[in-house]
Amino acid sequence: MCGIFGYIGTRTASPILVEGLRTLEYRGYDSAGIYVPGYGAVKAVGPIDNLAKKIKETIPGTSGIAHTRWATHGAPTETNAHPHTDQSGSIFVVHNGIIENYTLLKEGLKVQGITFESDTDTEVLTKLIGINYSGDLLEAVQRTLRMVQGTYGLAVMSEHEPEKIVVARMGSPLVIGICEDGNIIASDPSAIVSHTKDVIYLDDGDMALIEKDSYQIMSFEGRGREKTTEKIEWDLEEIKKDGYDHYLLKEIMEIPKAIENTLRGRLIPDKGRVKLGGLEKHSDKLSGLHRLTIVGCGSAAYAGEVGRYILEEYAGVPTTVELASEYRYRTNLKDSKSAVLAISQSGETADTLAAIRLAKKQGLGTFGIVNVVGSTIARENDAGVYNHAGPEVSIASTKAVISQITVLIMLAVFIGRERKMSLEDGKDIIEALQSLPKEIEKVLEQREEIEKIAKKYAQFQNFVFIGRNNHSPLASEAALKLKEITYIHAEGYPGGELKHGPIALLDEKFPVVAFAPQDHVYEKIVSNIEEIKARKAPVLAIANTGDDQVSHLVDDVIYVPKVHPIIQSIVSIVPTYLLAYYIGIEKGYNVDRPRNLAKSVTVE
Ligand code: AGP
Repeated sequence: MCGIFGYIGTRTASPILVEGLRTLEYRGYDSAGIYVPGYGAVKAVGPIDNLAKKIKETIPGTSGIAHTRWATHGAPTETNAHPHTDQSGSIFVVHNGIIENYTLLKEGLKVQGITFESDTDTEVLTKLIGINYSGDLLEAVQRTLRMVQGTYGLAVMSEHEPEKIVVARMGSPLVIGICEDGNIIASDPSAIVSHTKDVIYLDDGDMALIEKDSYQIMSFEGRGREKTTEKIEWDLEEIKKDGYDHYLLKEIMEIPKAIENTLRGRLIPDKGRVKLGGLEKHSDKLSGLHRLTIVGCGSAAYAGEVGRYILEEYAGVPTTVELASEYRYRTNLKDSKSAVLAISQSGETADTLAAIRLAKKQGLGTFGIVNVVGSTIARENDAGVYNHAGPEVSIASTKAVISQITVLIMLAVFIGRERKMSLEDGKDIIEALQSLPKEIEKVLEQREEIEKIAKKYAQFQNFVFIGRNNHSPLASEAALKLKEITYIHAEGYPGGELKHGPIALLDEKFPVVAFAPQDHVYEKIVSNIEEIKARKAPVLAIANTGDDQVSHLVDDVIYVPKVHPIIQSIVSIVPTYLLAYYIGIEKGYNVDRPRNLAKSVTVE
């Protein structure tokens, strides 16, 4: 998720552009840049401060566009930073989104002698606009958009027409700010509100030609569109969280969008297959694996544990999961037909990086599932899959964990279809993945009920979470979230383990959260719940909608849709994220920045 910003008016543009980027920095912060007609582009890696330092003197010029990047294609380098320019160096583009057919377009441009400096899809888009430009910027952009597939919030300027900004929206937000001294465009109103509260929200399929004292909104075909000017009601800080009280809640509510972004361009429904570009060259190695060792820390390791069940059941790959902090110090048996898969949201976790380096030293193949593009773990693996879950600001990882499990399901299809997974099974799983965002929405709609339950359970000092099969790692993940957000002691156990000791803990002050999906071990978890109730411990069940049997046994139930078993764990974990969030709020804690924790543990 990147941030784009533009200004055209009567004031000097460059300080306004830099300030606009600062308010968008939460959307992505690995590199940034601005373009001012008559001056050119300035770009820098790292936070906006680095860009500000590079723009030594104020650049003359009363218009320009700007961009803060959350890398999706190509590492965070100055070359990959936006704005990108066309072959002639006269057209400049900033872009938020993913051009899905950029590889094909790039090949076509290369045939025409166009050269490329960066690894980004945006440079392809820019060069295409350049090729299509014949004196009318708006027309060139319209012609280009008819050729591209994917998502974009786009702003384009030209040295030849410095008094214009052309913008277009498809799948990534764009807002126009109507000011006294000009007009602004931005990815979201947080960058506009300090200049004006009068905004126009563009919809998918809208384009606009912005000048300093006018704007025209139209379809991609150029047909005029009427839009109402709205008033921003929020203050600046609220808008960065899209109106949510905390980044944690915003990121939980973004889970459906994060799944859509994780899946985008990767499903091949009619073939029951997936396309994981980064792994294509390693397909033989992956499908021939005798053993896959997943390494990670914290939630990433728990996502890996869910992946183990899925990879073994659906792809027939013998899989083990090792905490990276243990793997790196153990004597790990290896053979040429085994590989290591590192899971990491930040891509900088020291233990996980050390585990990957050890595996490489031992001659093992190394793969990654990483959210931050260009991060160290991503760069040091042989190959991998980027989550595209967008920046995760809150220290407690939620949408990234869901995205990790989603990628692991796609990996099971990627490998499984080369092994024993049938076309039918592949199609069923693809269909299940496509339904996932909607199924999660049904869980998120219960936010208020979950908040009420959280208020009731916030009083307890200890919790045990239990689950079985691919829900037993969820017990550990949900316990971790509760611990790190509310500082309440919580443990996660496979349901079958309770009677081997932990049940001694239980009494009316020691609640249990039981994942009770109607799967092949449902009766077993019901027995667990009966054993627990016999010890008078309160039980909150995460059960399938319509399951009356469990609701009669427990104190509280949060219902989740019954879905394809391969995605049930994702649907089941979401309510426990909201539970931890609301208990943390009830206890008055800083849920985005819990004590003692960092977003990326780069220390050992
Ligand atoms: C998750 O909520 C925790 N903040 C923590 O366990 C995290 O998952 C772990 O530090 C791994 O981080 P990574 O995914 O960035 O490697």
